[in-house]
Amino acid sequence: MARQPDLAPRRARRAVCSCRRKSANSGKTGSSSMESPRSARIVFNPMKTFTIAAIPGDGVGREVVPPAKRVLEKAARNHGVSFAFQDFDWGVEHFFRWGRMMPAGALDLLMPCDAILLGAVGHPDVPDHTTLNGMLLPIRRAFDQYANVRPAYLFPGVASPLAGRQGGDIDLVIVRENTEGEYAPVGGFVYQHQPEEIAIQTSVFTRRGIERIVRFAFGLAVKRGKKKRVTSVTKSNAQGYSMTLWDRTFLDVAAEFPGIETESLLVDAAAMNFVRRPHTFDVVVGSNLFSDILSDLSAVIVGSMGLAPSANLDPLRRFPSMFEPVHGSAPDIAGKGIVNPLATILSAAMLLEHLQMTEAARDVENAVAAVLAEGKARTPDLGGTSQTEEVAEAVLEKLA
Ligand code: NAD
Ligand code: IPM
Ligand code: MN
Repeated sequence: MARQPDLAPRRARRAVCSCRRKSANSGKTGSSSMESPRSARIVFNPMKTFTIAAIPGDGVGREVVPPAKRVLEKAARNHGVSFAFQDFDWGVEHFFRWGRMMPAGALDLLMPCDAILLGAVGHPDVPDHTTLNGMLLPIRRAFDQYANVRPAYLFPGVASPLAGRQGGDIDLVIVRENTEGEYAPVGGFVYQHQPEEIAIQTSVFTRRGIERIVRFAFGLAVKRGKKKRVTSVTKSNAQGYSMTLWDRTFLDVAAEFPGIETESLLVDAAAMNFVRRPHTFDVVVGSNLFSDILSDLSAVIVGSMGLAPSANLDPLRRFPSMFEPVHGSAPDIAGKGIVNPLATILSAAMLLEHLQMTEAARDVENAVAAVLAEGKARTPDLGGTSQTEEVAEAVLEKLA
């Protein structure tokens, strides 16, 4: 497992990449930190620059990150901002060569970046628990990216597998607890590889962890200003400790938001209702595992895994947040040039939003919506015959 990064606060850590930071700040502030009374007020680089760590990872991740970078560059440039990408070739190839998914100091390299853009992790020749515990999950945990935001929107022109659903009918966002719960790395084997072996995998639910994710979900419902409803998903009928703590905490936090309607569903019923009445959901908050499962379902009811973006946020902005599609490395289509790049491009829009480039984020979303409405450039998952590159080019054209 990768070691923990130095958890010094961001401002102190920024000294690590001070040259970049100075030029990054020069656009807006006139680089006051470098000024002396006699210095000339010449601004060489009027563009604000953000540093983005790009980790394509494995499989189709390597095909979706390059187009998303191009979209980011263009969208940002249109608003007077530029991106400096730091490319990290970590993942299974790195593992085959060096015996680990990312180098020992990886988290320290990511720490000074403004955000992380990730493709996907996973390869049929390496056990998933090795790859995912070697890269994706340690990043989420070390950078306390406790809010995993997974929107599902049925774009006009895209067919839902659910009968009678039109564009805009489904518009929900899953807020997934991302650092504890069923994914807590707590457990072990006894009598490993012996006939009587025992595996123990313990969930960890803390009041602090539940409270902060539920509060985030309510805040998002307020910010969205749509149906103003938060649905909590648990399984308290079977799991009478962790899930009842979740239910009680949910009620406590809900009391702080009288303007927001609440609903509490068992996860099995929630799965059914995602199919039966998806239009009623606004913000859905749930544990790490339940929300993982529900977010594949929410992706497919709005047309495809290839349209589902996500953001792993540290809402307190102490650490870089990470943006990635909900889908995995899709080995069944990797290398064929037909993966849908839109989930990653929409994740890039979430990255822009996080960096407070709201207009640029809207531009990207509108460009994706226009391409989907037009229906000319579509990868096979959406019933088309286009290549990844054609779809990416179509989005770039709309951004012109
Ligand atoms: P997957 O999401 O990779 O693929 C599921 C199905 O959806 C496949 O048929 C695939 O072809 C299709 N699909 C996914 N994304 C698509 C896209 N953008 N365009 C078109 N079709 C798309 O899930 P899986 O097959 O269960 O997992 C494959 C590997 O990825 C495993 O190693 C798994 O552990 C890993 N995984 C990683 C992440 C991640 O890195 N965040 C997420 C999920 C799965
Ligand atoms: C996701 C993925 C990961 C998760 C896996 C690959 C560990 O399924 O991001 O949805 O469960 O978080
Ligand atoms: Mn998943």
